[in-house]
Parts: sequence; structure tokens; C-alpha cells
Amino acid sequence: MASVTAPNTVGSHVATISTIERDLAGDFVRVVEEAGIAAARTMGQGDREGSDQAAVQAMRQAFEDVQIEGTIVIGEGERDEAPMLYIGEKVGAPGHAGAQYPQIDIAVDPLEGTNLCATGTANSIAVLAASEPGGLLHAPDCYMEKIIAGPACRDALDIDAPVKYNLKAIAHCLDRQVSDLVIMVLDRPRHEELIKQIRASGARIRLIPDGDLSAGIAAAVRGAGVDAVMGTGGAPEGVITAAALRCLSGEMVARLVVNTKELEERVEKMGIRDPKRVYNARDLAPGKQIIFAACGVTEGALLHGVRFFGDGCRTHSLVMTYGSRKVRFVDTVHMFREPGRRGVRLY
Ligand code: FBP
Repeated sequence: MASVTAPNTVGSHVATISTIERDLAGDFVRVVEEAGIAAARTMGQGDREGSDQAAVQAMRQAFEDVQIEGTIVIGEGERDEAPMLYIGEKVGAPGHAGAQYPQIDIAVDPLEGTNLCATGTANSIAVLAASEPGGLLHAPDCYMEKIIAGPACRDALDIDAPVKYNLKAIAHCLDRQVSDLVIMVLDRPRHEELIKQIRASGARIRLIPDGDLSAGIAAAVRGAGVDAVMGTGGAPEGVITAAALRCLSGEMVARLVVNTKELEERVEKMGIRDPKRVYNARDLAPGKQIIFAACGVTEGALLHGVRFFGDGCRTHSLVMTYGSRKVRFVDTVHMFREPGRRGVRLY
């Protein structure tokens, strides 16, 4: 992986595409790896808050070695409700005299799928997205309606259209029958009607207990066994998904669910003028310089979970960059101490 270069000591604070993506991709992999390892140690303990806390603490600490002037734009909550990785928190290595580190906006989900980790179920990940300032929508912690599909479905999705219209459009773009499609949907009572309509159209469904972020990435990747994600999930997860989709040229349409007066005020305070706006991936993650990094916590379709052995552990991560169009899978063996006589184990 690319290593950290000297801090940007000349000119503007905003570094170029190549410097941000080239210099920071490796650092951000390390950040998600640390969060992933910490969360994985708590796997199956039935303590979702404990798992989340472990991931948050490890991620927060890992940021201290990254030479950036980072600002959390999507995090664990507002300042008064989250002690670490709250919205607006500054993260990054303390600067030294004369050093100017690049300014970076960061959206984090230190443990996406807290229940999945707490129960040892597949597909929990530690994840972040980063961009130049202003490159990620400052979304409130509310729900978001989403339809997510791969690059073949460009401009074909319509969030206001009936379910069967979108399914026909997806099938047409993929050159398949509707009955061939696999649609992932969060298993929630609010999706009862959606599920009924998908079934009535003849498409197949995979209900997932949690984790519409990794589901969204899978929908944008060929061969992952899922053609689209439909339904309502978290808005913060929606923005991070959009950052990944920018790197993968995936397609997404989304709209915030703003259904209370209090939410309306919160949304307005965050600078969102039209709460009913329909967003695509570019609207949610408009950055020209985007890095997306995720580390598997529990075993998953896209990423292996963390595997511990006596002297260390092995992690499996994904890092993608928008400007340089790179998708890298990173397989890392972390040694906690000198390996024993049998040496480093790779399986
Ligand atoms: P957590 O990691 O915060 O537990 O979120 C998991 C998740 O399933 C997300 O993937 C999804 O967007 C959201 O929760 C859905 O929210 P809810 O559980 O309230 O339906």
C-alpha cells in the first residue's frame, strides 16, 4: 500500500486528487483495520453497545497517526450525545510547526451492523469514506429511502415509480427477466408492503437482518449475487454507500425520510433546503477526491472477518478511490508479538 508522505508544507491546505488518494488510502485502511480488530474481539458477546464502543475507540485512536486535518461530517452523533467521533470533531495527527496537513471531510461508521457483530452474524464491517472538504453530504441521523443497483442501471431508477417499474427497468438494463433478479431488503415491518410488491412482480428477495451498506456495495459489484437493494435504511449509511458507489460507478436514488417537525428543523439546521429532494450518488458524495475503506469484522460475502491466532490476526479490507479508479483488496497479517517457532501463519 502507498505510504504516508511528508506533510504538505507549501501552498494551499487542499491537496490535489493524487496526493489525497495516493497518500491516504493506506492510512485509512489501517484506521478501519484497527476498528475492525477491536470490534471482532467482542464478536458474539451479545453486547452491541460494547462492540460499537470498542470499534469507535480504536478508530479514534488510529486517526491520531494520520497526517490530516480531518473533520468528522458523519459520525456517532451530535457532540452532546457522542464522546468520540461526533459530528464536527477534528481528527488527525497533531500538526508540527510549519506543517500543513490536507483538510479532509470524513464519514465514519466504526461498526456497521452492531447486531451482526454482537451475534456473530455475517457482514458486519468497519467503514469510512473521506473526501476533500464539502465532498460528502452532511446528512442527519434519520432514515433514507434507497434504491441501489450497479453501473448498468445508470439513470434507470425512479424513487417515485411503482416497485414493478423499477424492477422491470433493472431487469432490462441487466438483460434479464424480472424473475431472475435478486433484491436485498432489510427485514423490517416497515418493508411489508415493499416485500409484497417485489414478490408480486416475480423477483426474488434476500432479506437481511442488518447492514444495508455492505448490501449496497454488493449490488454495485458484478457476481456478488445481488442485483439491487430497495427500502429504507439509515441516511448516514446512505452517504457512505454513495461514496463507495462513486468509486464503483454504481447507481443510487435516495430521499431522506423527514416525517416530524423536529427532524424538519434539524435538517434545515444542517443546511438542507429541500428535505424532499431526490438524491443520486453524486449528490450524496459530490467529492472529486474520494476514498472509501472497509474492513470485514464478521465473515461476509465481500470481505472475510477478522481471524485471530496466537500471535496476531489477519484482516481483509477493501479500499477504493474515485479519482484514480482503483479497487484494492488488502489482506493483512497483524503481529501482536514476535511469532512463535512455527512463524507467521497464513491460513
Ligand atoms: P447499526 O450498525 O447502527 O446497528 O446499523 C445497522 C443497520 O442495519 C444499517 O445497515 C441500516 O441502514 C440501519 O441499521 C437500519 O436501521 P433500523 O435498524 O432502525 O431499521
